[in-house]
Amino acid sequence: MYAVIVLGIETSCDETAAAVVSDGRRVLSSVISSQFDLHRAHGGVVPELAARRHVTAIVPVVEQALRDAGIDRDDLDAIAVTQGPGLAGALVVGMNAAKAMAYALGRPLVAVNHLEAHIYANWLCDSPNVPSEPLFPILCLLVSGGHTELILMTGHRRFQHLGRTLDDAAGEAFDKGARLLGLGFPGGPAIQEAASKGDPRSFELPRAWLAGTYDFSFSGLKTALLRLTEPMRVPESDVASATGPPSSMSGPFREHRPPTYAPDAPIADLAAAFQQAVIEPLVVKTARAAAEFDARTVVLAGGVAANSLLRDRLLREVLAQCGPGVPVAFPSHAYCTDNAAMVAAAAAWVIRAGDLVGWEADVHPRLSLTQR
Ligand code: KG4
Ligand code: ZN
Repeated sequence: MYAVIVLGIETSCDETAAAVVSDGRRVLSSVISSQFDLHRAHGGVVPELAARRHVTAIVPVVEQALRDAGIDRDDLDAIAVTQGPGLAGALVVGMNAAKAMAYALGRPLVAVNHLEAHIYANWLCDSPNVPSEPLFPILCLLVSGGHTELILMTGHRRFQHLGRTLDDAAGEAFDKGARLLGLGFPGGPAIQEAASKGDPRSFELPRAWLAGTYDFSFSGLKTALLRLTEPMRVPESDVASATGPPSSMSGPFREHRPPTYAPDAPIADLAAAFQQAVIEPLVVKTARAAAEFDARTVVLAGGVAANSLLRDRLLREVLAQCGPGVPVAFPSHAYCTDNAAMVAAAAAWVIRAGDLVGWEADVHPRLSLTQR
């Protein structure tokens, strides 16, 4: 499998991305065209707008990835694409682009599970914390905008679920929390930035420990933040000018404009308390599972893995519960949130397993990690 050069394509949500990776480990190029500007006004990703932006962005992004890698398209050994989970219309754009390239070049098509790709970002060579490949068994915390899962990985592409969120994903909690605090979209980086100036001890927010399980829950925390902040808001009738179009988010948030707070409102303290309340159960349960299942490496994956407090706390907690022999790995920041290098990295192991797909391959918007 080594020295295989793979083009990865990722269009599952709101980033159009293409990357060239050699050996499943060395990134030759990674191009990401973000749609933040398009979705920001809506307070969340609008599926149809996302799909249509992928249509216009995909060819320039792929061309840029080939140029940056300094290779010709004939040098590619395989074309890999995210098959799911994700937004159906968005996934279709990537799948069709990948099929067209694979067909025209006479190369194999590799369908990659987006969740598996997030995990395999830890095999990319410049993952900062672990110089060599992670050792099995691996305890993996996958935390993204749509998923929060605790997984035992016993070998390549062998995943066992230990726990998951019962409601909101961790990234979704960050996004909704940021919206309640008027911090904008995407919420994770905004909360982290605001929290860096706040004191997490200023407010008491609940943690759902769900004792005796490796499951998580964040909806109670979100409701607690709503209750806490409601009295601090400037009433809508007092807000002189409209603050933006209504949100496209579902549930009780749908009709809410971004809330307005007085200039002296303790937003930084609230953000810090909220960030800590999301992270604590993640860290404690991950380290506990690593100890229980004798993991040799702990890996973090998904967009929320970019969070500095999560990384620092996990390092400390794994050291406390497992001792110094269990390293904690996480991808570089660029490969935590959605990107195509992780797709090409995962593809190397799919190719090695001989798990190629034919032209009948479809997208799978609700694909799970253990589904084939
Ligand atoms: O993996 P990803 O790019 O997309 C999905 O597959 O969902 O994850 C996006 C999520 C968003 O919810 C975003 O708010 C969160 O990752 N995120 C963060 C940070 N950076 C991105 N959450 C906390 N702290 C961050 N620094
Ligand atoms: Zn993702």
